[in-house]
Amino acid sequence: MPVIFHEGAKEFHLFNQTLSYVLNVLPNGQLGQLYYGKRIRDRASFSYLMETSCRPISSWPMKELPNFSLEFTRQEYPSFGTTDFRQPAFEINQPNGSHISNFVYLSHSITAGKPDWAHMPHSYVESPEEAQTLEIVLADAVTGVELTLSYTVFEQISAIARSAKFTNKGTDPLRLERAMSLCVDFPDDDFEWMQFSGAWARERAPKVRKLEMGVTAIESMRGHSSSHENPFVILKRPNTTEASGDAYGFHFVYSGNFLAQAEVDTFNVTRFTMGINPRQFSWKLTPGESFQTPEVLMTFSPDGLNGLSQNIHTLLRTRVARGPWRDQPRPVLLNNWEATGMEFTEESILNIARKGAEVGVELFVLDDGWFGHRTEFSGLGDWYVDKSKLPNGVKGLADKVNALGLKFGIWIEPEMVNEDSDLYRAHPEYVLATPQRSMSLGRSQLVLDFSNPEVVDCIYHQLVESFEGANISYIKWDMNRSITECYSRHWPADQQGEVYHRYILGVYSLYEKLLAKYPHLLFESCSSGGCRFDAGMLYYAPQAWCSDDTDAMQRLRIQYGSSYGYPISSWGAHVSECPNQQVGRSTPIETRANVAFFGAFGYEMDLNELTDEEIEVVKRQVQFMKEHRQLIQFGTFYRLMNPYTNDKGAWMVVAPDQSEAIVGLYQQMNQVNTGFLQVHLQGLNPDWDYEIDGKLVRGGDELMSFGLMPQDASAHPLAMLFDPDGSIDLMGDYDSKLYHLKAIHHGS
Ligand code: DGJ
Repeated sequence: MPVIFHEGAKEFHLFNQTLSYVLNVLPNGQLGQLYYGKRIRDRASFSYLMETSCRPISSWPMKELPNFSLEFTRQEYPSFGTTDFRQPAFEINQPNGSHISNFVYLSHSITAGKPDWAHMPHSYVESPEEAQTLEIVLADAVTGVELTLSYTVFEQISAIARSAKFTNKGTDPLRLERAMSLCVDFPDDDFEWMQFSGAWARERAPKVRKLEMGVTAIESMRGHSSSHENPFVILKRPNTTEASGDAYGFHFVYSGNFLAQAEVDTFNVTRFTMGINPRQFSWKLTPGESFQTPEVLMTFSPDGLNGLSQNIHTLLRTRVARGPWRDQPRPVLLNNWEATGMEFTEESILNIARKGAEVGVELFVLDDGWFGHRTEFSGLGDWYVDKSKLPNGVKGLADKVNALGLKFGIWIEPEMVNEDSDLYRAHPEYVLATPQRSMSLGRSQLVLDFSNPEVVDCIYHQLVESFEGANISYIKWDMNRSITECYSRHWPADQQGEVYHRYILGVYSLYEKLLAKYPHLLFESCSSGGCRFDAGMLYYAPQAWCSDDTDAMQRLRIQYGSSYGYPISSWGAHVSECPNQQVGRSTPIETRANVAFFGAFGYEMDLNELTDEEIEVVKRQVQFMKEHRQLIQFGTFYRLMNPYTNDKGAWMVVAPDQSEAIVGLYQQMNQVNTGFLQVHLQGLNPDWDYEIDGKLVRGGDELMSFGLMPQDASAHPLAMLFDPDGSIDLMGDYDSKLYHLKAIHHGS
């Protein structure tokens, strides 16, 4: 039973094999927090874990409790305004202008499984035995608001899903000015904060800093989760490495504005909160209505960052992502964007697709440019086919692509409109824009007001009509600008603080509608590459275009950084032409694939431009991926060498039964006469021997303890190798090698 309630002590102990989380009802009736970390044995009471001694000059929330101050109390979902001066979890603005509230414990329930929500992404279970859900109801007597805090503890995955729900059971309308999804008050501040930051084309670079007194925070106010800060944070102990030590993960299952922050107070208590960004958020809660926060997934590992990531990979891949593609190896795809941009004809597209069929690609994706009068400055919002490019419509092209033996996929950017479009001319009120203020353009486009269900419906019907009869297997859903001058003409003045959130709910509703209509579809989310790469999107689209940067060396880093918080199957990774269109670098085609294999693999080029020799290489690459994608996309992933801090980078995947593994080793800038390289492998069976590329046999124990050995010339491509004929094979910049390990079982 992963949730135990100790009636006498009024304490809840939530646990699974790996973690424990303990909270209690405080003397003033509010909720306190006693412990979060490695699994501990249950006790009748953990009340001694709460330090109660008051400090001088403290104030007490109740005259009757002179030794109790919220200022020194670790709390579950704190408010601001009485005796706690730290960042609160929520704020309710009341008709008389007061923000003070006092939510006291009312009741709780413990149920098997996890309740479903209709309108927002969330983690789920497939059978009630997988998890237990604790719901604690608290009430504020003055406003009549009821607060329900939900905790789902997964039995087999080291995770707790949390959210909060406010229901106005009073008689006055209220304003929710802040509604974070969770708060955790850790008793100390001995943590390093890890965030995943960047910008367009250099997403999710890990950044680490020690927590200090004060606030450490990341956020997005762009209307999407953004490439600048990813809504995923790790708190780790300073001595935690990839292989050992405690690490706590926090994922916001949401795709809009967010705030994640840790506040260390003067007594070294660390308060972590995560949720919808309170800036520009104000939700009108009329009597009888509820507001449900999005979910945060808390994950914990005592086995280092690789342990944390592996646990997260399982959680996001199997209990957030959904649909028929969730557990299926992803098709090898070919996308025309870097080959043609928006300039193409049906014939030029078929020419590219034909070459794809020849090399064994399984899915052809037609990118931007097929609709309206599409140019860089026009066409978005007009989802009817451009007959000058596709005279036979989407169906005509899809049929021809299908006839080549390929599945057909298509690009859309449903949230956007160009001023030069039929939709904007007919409905200028459909965009987010502030009256009497100028509108900022991004990529020459405006953002449609998806907080208005009529706009969502209009786009849905247009898409369905243009896809009529076409056998579409895949959709790439793009989103290429941030929201500015956010204002909806659909909502009254006193509900403008709801627009950012309602916008994202509109995006989710369109995903739901399209999935209901086309349940077999594989969605790939995209936002100028990885600008909306979050756990919320994964619920609808099991993969996301990782980055617009397709250079192998940059991708090595971006994919390495992404792997901390997201599974390998969740990102699209393509081989593109060289010199690379983003950075101008030329890398070997083998290395481009050796990086892209670790993802949902594909090509982003006109394969007709390759030499015959290169085409033979590509055929072998496609074959390799088809043979090994089950292992790569669904195996256990380990980061081995960090390309942000080394000349080289390395990672590996291991089969669940340890019978097989693939190691990727990558050279960035070559150096000469360097120290010997040992790549310490992980996850192998120490008692088994492994055959490496059918050539060498080495022990699992030595491969992990000593490492894949540089002296082992035949297994090591990144050193100076002397061929038998006496020539020197000097491995150069951007080189790479994959090692395929197969276990040789002993007789026993
Ligand atoms: C941005 C995406 O990231 C690209 O892959 C491509 O689809 C373009 N948009 C098309 O406009």
